[in-house]
Amino acid sequence: MKILGVGIATLDIINSVERYPEEDGEVRVLSQRRCRGGNATNTLTVLSQLGHACVWAGVLPQDSDAAFVEEMLRQQQVDLRHVHHLTSGKLPTSYITLSEESGSRTILHLRDLPGYRAEWFLEEVDPGEFQWIHFEGRDTDELEKMLLSLSAVEGLQVSVEIEKPRPGIEALFHLPQVLLFSRHYAQSTGHASAESLLKRVARQLGGQRPLLFCAWGDQGAWAFDRQGGLLHVPAVRIPRVVDTVAAGDVFNAAVIHALSQAATPLEALQQGCRLAGKSCGMVGVEDVVL
Ligand code: FRU
Repeated sequence: MKILGVGIATLDIINSVERYPEEDGEVRVLSQRRCRGGNATNTLTVLSQLGHACVWAGVLPQDSDAAFVEEMLRQQQVDLRHVHHLTSGKLPTSYITLSEESGSRTILHLRDLPGYRAEWFLEEVDPGEFQWIHFEGRDTDELEKMLLSLSAVEGLQVSVEIEKPRPGIEALFHLPQVLLFSRHYAQSTGHASAESLLKRVARQLGGQRPLLFCAWGDQGAWAFDRQGGLLHVPAVRIPRVVDTVAAGDVFNAAVIHALSQAATPLEALQQGCRLAGKSCGMVGVEDVVL
């Protein structure tokens, strides 16, 4: 399947520590690695490993970090023809502390680069070329223009990742076929469980709603199918949590892959939990499918 992903790429500088430091404390870093990150490009990297022809639409500056990111994406066979290079700005950079004790990843995110613009999408992307387009739910105004332009494209599936609260994004929930929520979004909007969020969204959207998914870390993931059934799959137990960075992006990739193969929502949840669990037991996402 040919898939377009619209969203960000980052440079991730990941420090592993025994336990998360206290404020104003000092701890020794056990190991450090520098890698490409960013939700959309993480998801595309996994989808490419799952055998799809992936294209990334995003923004890069013109510096050596951006060249590193491009090289990593090329190695994963991700097509970069819809990347916009800006002469100013800096590659978004995440300083990530990975705690061995809890498995948590704490992210300090530095961003000084404009986002991908709807006008580029409308002028340059031929949606008829793709069977699936996946968006990160970022700038609501830009996202709305892109989603509306796709409403009449036949045979196209559209998914949107809702990771963080963004002003007005709820007004777009009826536009794609699949919504992929994060625990962070659920909690930030006052929900103590995935079930509570999904029921609320389903109620708001009524009959013609997209498939709804929400991953919830070590408790697994939930979905709400179009018939109104709430589904749950527990997380896969792994012997040792090594790296939880991007587990949500891996979950999203596995769900998109499963649905693209006509899997049921329950099967998609199972595949999502399986691959996200596997990714937590290994370093990075570059070899998660092998
Ligand atoms: C993981 C991730 C990292 C990136 C950060 C951006 O989901 O995409 O790779 O630095 O989130 O928010």
